[in-house]
Amino acid sequence: MKITKDYSLLPHNTFGMDVKASLFIEYDSVEELKQILRDYPLEGDRWLHIGAGSNLLFTGDYPGIVLHSCIRGFEVVAEDAEAVIVRVGAGEVWDDFVAYAVSNEWYGAENLSLIPGEVGASAVQNIGAYGVEAKDLIVEVETIEVATGKERVFRNEECGYAYRESVFKLSLKRRHIVTKVSYRLRKTPSYHLDYGNVRAELEKSGCALTLSNVREGIIKIREAKLPDPKVQGNAGSFFMNPIIPYAQFEALSARYPQMPHYEVDAQRVKIPAAWMIDQCGWKGKQMGRAGVHHKQALVLVNLGGATGKEVIRLSEEIQKSVSDKFGVSISPEVNFI
Ligand code: EPU
Repeated sequence: MKITKDYSLLPHNTFGMDVKASLFIEYDSVEELKQILRDYPLEGDRWLHIGAGSNLLFTGDYPGIVLHSCIRGFEVVAEDAEAVIVRVGAGEVWDDFVAYAVSNEWYGAENLSLIPGEVGASAVQNIGAYGVEAKDLIVEVETIEVATGKERVFRNEECGYAYRESVFKLSLKRRHIVTKVSYRLRKTPSYHLDYGNVRAELEKSGCALTLSNVREGIIKIREAKLPDPKVQGNAGSFFMNPIIPYAQFEALSARYPQMPHYEVDAQRVKIPAAWMIDQCGWKGKQMGRAGVHHKQALVLVNLGGATGKEVIRLSEEIQKSVSDKFGVSISPEVNFI
């Protein structure tokens, strides 16, 4: 366990905000986490658990305890002819898990290659890309209840998963800390190539359809469009894609026939926020030291030395113009701290 006072969170948030935590605690095991809960009763909102900080925007120093898991390890806990179940420590880097799955020829996680963040957050945030979400793989989520220090395991159906949503973000927010996540991976090919340009890009590359080539292809698509946080601070998609009633979609598509959309169910349609932001002319624009990425309008970037407040100001202007032009409200995916 490592405990540090007045700790700079710069290496722990991909937006690159140089803010301090009053106390920073990193732990290596479930036992150490239980010890922390005994020694530092985590009350109210004076504490925060972070992963890789790839979905956070700090607006100032954090006057409380910041926790970070270093629980590591990949363990095959069940296996049959069709699939394996792998139990992974919450502190593992997400893409290391994807690489591990691909190197073992286990299918399912490859479309989620290169998503920044850690395994614990994958279960809270239900991360997703290119037609696959973490919930499609998760079998169960092991947690410790903050108030009692007791272990509780949530089966997939108990996690309330929906688009970028889970009970850990809603009704049980801040009540449990994820320690390990078990994923089911298939032993036989079952590719998901029908999202956007995935199939076309793979065909263009002329490579055979193999698991590692799909991973490479996804990495190339992401690298071509999304800025590397090591080069330019950002938190991936800044806003969620709004889900609107079908009738509202019909009215909008009469005015904007080229508007991309995905049906969620018979009543609801998901509209890409990136497309609307782009249509409002924001791509590549900047306000102070915060900007809109020039290749993906959903990504806000730190152009160097931006404060969290500057990024929020830009995001509010964007929300306003999307609402004025399309009558649709978009909400941040990023958490403001
Ligand atoms: N588009 C534009 N302008 C842009 C960018 C996109 O018009 O600047 C259009 C595209 O042409 C496309 C549509 O918007 O028709 C959707 O774009 P894209 O496929 O790039 O995906 P997205 O909806 O913007 C979501 C996820 C990403 C994930 C991609 C790929 C959310 C909030 N974001 O973005 O996740 O990588 O799909 O599956 O759901 C993240 O969460 O950090 C993230 C990067």
